[in-house]
Amino acid sequence: MPEKSPIRAWGSQFGRERWLVFADAKDRVSRWVTVREGAPDSATCRVPLAGFVLAELRRRCEPGPVLFSEEHSADVVAASFADCDDPRLRELLTSLVGHLHAFVKDVELTEAEWATAIGFLTRTGQACDDVRQEFILLSDVLGVSMLVETLNHRTGGTGTESTVLGPFHVVDSPPRELGDDIALDGKGTPCLVQGQVTGPDGEAVGAATVDVWQANDDGFYDVQQPGVQPEHNLRGLLTADSDGRFYFRSVVPRHYPIPYDGPVGELLAATGRHAYRPAHLHFIVTAPGYLPVTTHAFVAGSPYLESDAVFGVKQSLVREVVDGVLTFDVSLLRADQDGPTTARR
Ligand code: BEZ
Ligand code: FE
Repeated sequence: MPEKSPIRAWGSQFGRERWLVFADAKDRVSRWVTVREGAPDSATCRVPLAGFVLAELRRRCEPGPVLFSEEHSADVVAASFADCDDPRLRELLTSLVGHLHAFVKDVELTEAEWATAIGFLTRTGQACDDVRQEFILLSDVLGVSMLVETLNHRTGGTGTESTVLGPFHVVDSPPRELGDDIALDGKGTPCLVQGQVTGPDGEAVGAATVDVWQANDDGFYDVQQPGVQPEHNLRGLLTADSDGRFYFRSVVPRHYPIPYDGPVGELLAATGRHAYRPAHLHFIVTAPGYLPVTTHAFVAGSPYLESDAVFGVKQSLVREVVDGVLTFDVSLLRADQDGPTTARR
């Protein structure tokens, strides 16, 4: 661990650049940081400080250490992370603080509003337990889950697009044979679900694993109604044949509400939003040598396709049910392919 020395920071704004200068107790500048606000991604660079640059900086910057003020709030807090040994953590926290402070200033947050927000977040945490994750649900209804999913699984227009996982996936889904009926509760309109798993060049991906799950005709997943629905109702793990083809019997999915009996439900109600998701069938498709995809087949014509409570709908995932058959082909990206699939590898 490098020895920690007292750090003082100056911040200033020269045109489109923000400068932060770190100095020790004897005013020896240890380093400086520039953040170019006009750059597409804010770039941070550290360079050794030449004497003349220092002099110029000292001339332009406010003399003495910058204490917390409305003007300098984010920079002063950012400077407190200067000794963080993990550069990514420092980047994340510096950006987070910058955006949070800008938000507080933008809306002129009142103390009463701050207290309400703290109360809401406290209740959100208290609503979490082994089976319920209210914070993820909050992230879902604010569109953050979809944004993280989307930018970490860019397809470059080739592979099947991804969407949210949701809270009702189970890791140990029961294996099913091709052609099995996964609807065990006798409710709903029967349909055949079929598709083919292929790779980027159209090659069949034989023996791909296809993990599927959906809500029943009453709008609940099996795990939401233990003892009411048969165990493992409407879910299963299939293995595609050597041509990458899979097929199974099920029922036409229906729209249903996300859990709205907690703080997230209050937020939806307070903002005049409904809790519904359009009808969909969940898929996770995996195969050795290919990137897995977590996605849905959405049913064309379903209510709420244009107003999914968790923003999960992508046009490329919407399918018609034709004569009782829902066809959902899946195109996987190769794992070793260079491409725009992830934000950070
Ligand atoms: C789901 O589709 O199962 C789901 C997704 C996000 C939040 C709640 C449910
Ligand atoms: Fe779902």
